[in-house]
Amino acid sequence: MADQSGEPFGVYVHIPFCVSKCDYCAFATWTDRHHLSDAYLGALHVDIRRAIDEGMPVASSIFVGGGTPSMLDGAELGAVISAIPVVADAEITVECNPDDVSVELLRHYVAAGVNRVSLGVQSMATHVLGTLGRRHDRRNIERAVDAIHTVGLPSFNLDVIYGAAGESTEDWEHTVRSILAFDPPHVSAYALTIEAGTPLAEQPDRHPDDDDQADKYELVDDLLTASGLENYEISNWARPGHECRHNVLYWRQQDYRGFGCAAHSHRTGRRWWNVRTPDRYIDLVAAGESTESAGETLDEPTRRFERMELLLRMRDGVPLDALDGDRLPGLVERRNDRWVLTRSGRLLANEISTRLS
Ligand SMILES: C[S@@+](CC[C@H](N)C(=O)[O-])C[C@H]1O[C@@H](n2cnc3c(N)ncnc32)[C@H](O)[C@@H]1O
Ligand code: SF4
Repeated sequence: MADQSGEPFGVYVHIPFCVSKCDYCAFATWTDRHHLSDAYLGALHVDIRRAIDEGMPVASSIFVGGGTPSMLDGAELGAVISAIPVVADAEITVECNPDDVSVELLRHYVAAGVNRVSLGVQSMATHVLGTLGRRHDRRNIERAVDAIHTVGLPSFNLDVIYGAAGESTEDWEHTVRSILAFDPPHVSAYALTIEAGTPLAEQPDRHPDDDDQADKYELVDDLLTASGLENYEISNWARPGHECRHNVLYWRQQDYRGFGCAAHSHRTGRRWWNVRTPDRYIDLVAAGESTESAGETLDEPTRRFERMELLLRMRDGVPLDALDGDRLPGLVERRNDRWVLTRSGRLLANEISTRLS
């Protein structure tokens, strides 16, 4: 039986396939397992069916991420999405790589209820896309955004990354101004992060410079804000009403269920994650066994600390008793009964988190 309490409930579906592996990426995704995609989609159907039978709540948001969901057949992925019970106004997002997007693909998504795509633009400078090892170019991006407008999706996000080797301030400004020309309702701008175990981690000469990334953060914040996109989480800007409800649910520690390999779930303080490989996931579902790899239950102090850490990153900040904000001048400011990060504070959020009580 579904939970009709009205509390938000999110569903995440992980698609672990990519055409090629970007050397900075640590997500659970493979380039040599496409032969598993039919079996994987079949396992998702079975796993979702079981969760419904066990009383999974109706979803207020679905996020299909990866990996590269858009490399799968649109109708087949749409069938998985359609199998998940949702509330009437659910937000349903699919992550897409620009080189895969076509009007035809998006029509399959729309038929399955998808109303938002998140497009991995990363950069609008050709040589930066090359450094990042991306397969697409700016024409793919333009075509993808045209397709989004043609099918009339109510919302979309553009992901960009700053701080790649060889990216000048001018390149970054060009990227931000170019994506603004697409009139996006939502932008996620991420500082390129060095993830342990990736090829990029082994090449220190290509690692980003902290000061350069701080300058680029200020630049993107200035340009997006001036265009009417409001910063609502450190790396996320949206026009009013276009904030990503699914991510907000994560940041508010609400409940969600993840399907597919490496997917994470959370229910009232207990969180768990699935086995990492698609092979193991398919086998376990076929055997009727749990796909959980491990899990943990947080004690109340840890849960509260994590809640404050996540809230601090958001526009509305934390309650006054969570932080001695008077000792952090210039980094936080008091807004009514909350401490909210200033822009300088957003650049030092991790350090400020260590002062949370
Ligand atoms: C895991 S990807 C999936 C989407 C799609 N495959 C793509 O790459 O566009 C989601 C987003 O994570 C971001 N990302 C992945 N690795 C990152 C890293 N090391 N540093 C910063 N952002 C990263 C990228 O902006 C990417 O769009
Ligand atoms: S960044 Fe995206 S396309 Fe690149 S390997 Fe990771 S998931 Fe795949």
